[in-house]
Amino acid sequence: MVKICCIGAGYVGGPTMAVIALNCPSIEVAVVDISVSRISAWNGDQLPIYEPGLDEVVKQCRGKNLFFSTDVEKHVSEADIIFVSVNTPTKTRGLGAGKAADLTYWESAARMIADVSKSNKIVVEKSTVPVKTAEAIERILRHNSKGIKYQILSNPEFLAEGTAIQNLFNPDRVLIGGRETPDGLKAIQVLKDVYAHWVPEDRIITTNLWSAELSKLAANAFLAQRISSVNAMSALCEATGADVSQVSHAVGKDSRIGPKFLNASVGFGGSCFQKDILNLVYVCECNGLLEVATYWKQVIKVNDYQKNRFVNRIVSSMFNTVSGKKIAILGFAFKKDTGDTRETPAIDVCKGLMGDKARLSIYDPQVTEDQIQRDLTMNKFDWDHPIHLQPASPTSVKQVSVAWDAYAATKDAHALCILTEWDEFKTLDYQRIFDNMQKPAFVFDGRNIMNVEMLREIGFIVYSIGKPLDPWLKNMPAVA
Ligand code: NAD
Ligand code: UDX
Repeated sequence: MVKICCIGAGYVGGPTMAVIALNCPSIEVAVVDISVSRISAWNGDQLPIYEPGLDEVVKQCRGKNLFFSTDVEKHVSEADIIFVSVNTPTKTRGLGAGKAADLTYWESAARMIADVSKSNKIVVEKSTVPVKTAEAIERILRHNSKGIKYQILSNPEFLAEGTAIQNLFNPDRVLIGGRETPDGLKAIQVLKDVYAHWVPEDRIITTNLWSAELSKLAANAFLAQRISSVNAMSALCEATGADVSQVSHAVGKDSRIGPKFLNASVGFGGSCFQKDILNLVYVCECNGLLEVATYWKQVIKVNDYQKNRFVNRIVSSMFNTVSGKKIAILGFAFKKDTGDTRETPAIDVCKGLMGDKARLSIYDPQVTEDQIQRDLTMNKFDWDHPIHLQPASPTSVKQVSVAWDAYAATKDAHALCILTEWDEFKTLDYQRIFDNMQKPAFVFDGRNIMNVEMLREIGFIVYSIGKPLDPWLKNMPAVA
């Protein structure tokens, strides 16, 4: 029986291994982590992450051929294939701080593999890493090898949160990079055979190691670039009276461009896009490609601009001050169908409003109060470090309260802001909400999910990103 061990039981390691276990009953899969609380949650009724469809998959194979454990060394030493799916956040200190990937967790996993291994291993990079990381990992393993042979593969993960299970069952492609040597090709084939249990062969792409590593950074950079492009257009739409949804639709009808990933928003969030672009920028700079680095940096600058623009729009619309005013925040996760808040635009928007002394009442169906309070007291770039590795927040933020539903959040508020596109926000009783709010009552839709006409008929003053401006907003100072 082939044995797989995955180091890192996070958003990628957990779901990915559960899907492998379900599709490959002949393979034993152990997912290990240094976090005792995470592993207990994986073994309990309340899984540590919210992901549609995940519960069913885990329940079908947990205890049969899928195991979650903190006994990292035992499972690593027994495994034939070791996936490393630890976090690779942006470095906060030292050389490359604010840009380069922090490979501390990766390096410690590699050193532990070298320490405990007693048989040949295939080590698979699942984490997103800078190009040439495999070379560094190879050096660590080979210098400590005690005669054991290691093959390093790069097998980046392309799942998106909220649709992870669907993406894993039916991936656009599986990418496997390896050394172009006989042993390297053999290792590639072993991993291909695992995926071939459920992924059609023509969707399994094999490349050299560096192409696989770079393709992951490139894919995320391209995706984020589309969002920044449409968000840049949204500012121009507001200035000219065009409607960004109509523009996206018309542009996306071109089969060379395609309709997906063209939704204007308050900005992209999530643990990957910003981190991976910064990482790409750093790799470009290290290779002396300054123009290329500047090109990609702009994607992040436009994203920051979009978040600032949203805050400025709120403040300028509300008579240039939100001091002491209650503002309801609907949605805190970085997208719907996840409880993940890493680099969610809601953090920047909330901090911007708090800077102007607003009182916030926040509701999100999947994010806990503790998480929200931590996020609003934490430094930028610490977001991508797992919560269980963070010290508890020293004090809760007085300006912020967390509500149990959208009606409680909006009661007596001057404005409501939609920051996550949760489906339930589309069907709220907006007449009831309007009746319980201060007047004039504002809606700032950062996700373009609302029917603007319907809200205006009720009496709201409505701002929706990239849409023709409400007459009220047109008379307010321009927003840059
Ligand atoms: P995560 O923070 O949710 O999980 C990482 C886990 O690794 C944590 O539970 C941590 O405790 C554990 N860990 C760290 N060092 C360890 C060690 N030495 N031994 C054992 N466990 C250790 O991170 P994630 O979101 O799952 O991301 C993992 C990697 O996958 C990152 O490189 C990320 O860029 C990449 N990725 C993430 C996504 C996503 O949607 N989240 C998608 C594609 C790729
Ligand atoms: C992303 C990539 O899609 C995935 O392939 C990779 O493996 C990890 O990074 P994820 O961050 O989980 O996945 O979610 P994604 O759906 O890409 O959304 C990222 C952010 O962009 C979210 O904040 C989302 O709301 C925003 N977004 C997405 C837009 O603002 N507009 C869009 O049209 C699409």
